[in-house]
Amino acid sequence: MSLNSFGHLFRVTTWGESHGPALGATVDGCPPGVEIDAAAIQHWLDRRKPGQSKFTTQRREPDEVEILSGVFEGQTTGTPIQLMIRNTDQRSKDYGDIVEKFRPGHADITYWQKYGIRDYRGGGRSSARETAARVAAGGVARAALATLAPGLRITGYMVQMGPHAIDRGRFDWDQIEQNPFWVPDAQAAEDWASYLDGLRKDGNSVGAVVEVVARGVPAGLGAPIYGKLDTDLAAAMMSINAVKGVEIGEGMAAAALTGTENADEIFMGNDGQPVFSSNHAGGILGGISTGQDVVVRFAVKPTSSILTPRRTITRSGAATEIVTKGRHDPCVGIRAVPVGEAMMACVLLDHLLLHRGQIGENRGRIG
Ligand SMILES: Cc1cc2nc3c(=O)[nH]c(=O)nc-3n(C[C@H](O)[C@H](O)[C@H](O)COP(=O)(O)O)c2cc1C
Repeated sequence: MSLNSFGHLFRVTTWGESHGPALGATVDGCPPGVEIDAAAIQHWLDRRKPGQSKFTTQRREPDEVEILSGVFEGQTTGTPIQLMIRNTDQRSKDYGDIVEKFRPGHADITYWQKYGIRDYRGGGRSSARETAARVAAGGVARAALATLAPGLRITGYMVQMGPHAIDRGRFDWDQIEQNPFWVPDAQAAEDWASYLDGLRKDGNSVGAVVEVVARGVPAGLGAPIYGKLDTDLAAAMMSINAVKGVEIGEGMAAAALTGTENADEIFMGNDGQPVFSSNHAGGILGGISTGQDVVVRFAVKPTSSILTPRRTITRSGAATEIVTKGRHDPCVGIRAVPVGEAMMACVLLDHLLLHRGQIGENRGRIG
């Protein structure tokens, strides 16, 4: 079975394990003529790489990407692009305990139940090292989007850590790059630092909510019913390790609104384009982008590998306790931000290519 790929026309297959020699992505369907080099992809990988602050795993991986195929003289050729990242800082001895024991909240037990064999070193395929491959593929998607949809910008940030949400009144785009949490609220960044430090020292972890916004998305991407843009975005975000919930626009909160509150009223703008009074829809109606910001949020559960003992069983079914040593993220939501951005880039490019294939230029003129 081939269940390691996603995308329709822009198709990404990831491969590799945490403690194998390397991992990577095969990107098929990228249009030719896109200007790209390893440095452009590296830019995005550097945002995800471990060990950048005391609030992420202390694994020291440079995450250097190598382009093995599909690029000639600085441009994509239209053939498969093979991206490889070597694993250089494995410490398999840290994982001795999980050879026999299943970590509560991790994939150890289900991998064992399904396959009867598992690469326990660093979590093998279930390790979030796999997300480095997605970010590399997202770098290719971003380069293609820069050519095909100039002006489209994708930005991810954290909006909640544990019970502590940001104050939307203090939202500042410029703050996002200024703190280790990618949070657009300077006060939240300060508060979260001491909160997370306390949890980390206690051998505990915490969940988070990440929001990813795409601005400058053309109207018309996505298709009704089975090809909805929101369906593919939700699947893409849900496929990220540790994600337990996804929302588009108002999301779950839409259930508490009335029709009058939820209506994004439509007006004709001065530039001949429709404008909306609000964006409860998250930029998607009937599975098709409206031209407003596309807004996706996802909830990330707390890291399951923690230093506080938890009860579990061994492979033979004996009751035991587990303390997971090794270098783990106390809040995986932080490094999930660049991963969410990458998934947004891949899905939007995929739908841009689908739209070009079926329709070409948008046909429905207003005015
Ligand atoms: C960026 C990122 C980093 C992660 N780091 C860790 C980690 O250090 N330790 C851990 O136990 N889980 C970590 N996870 C989560 C596990 O990979 C995930 O919980 C596991 O694969 C089980 O899958 P599920 O949570 O989706 O069910 C991380 C997830 C992401 C997105």
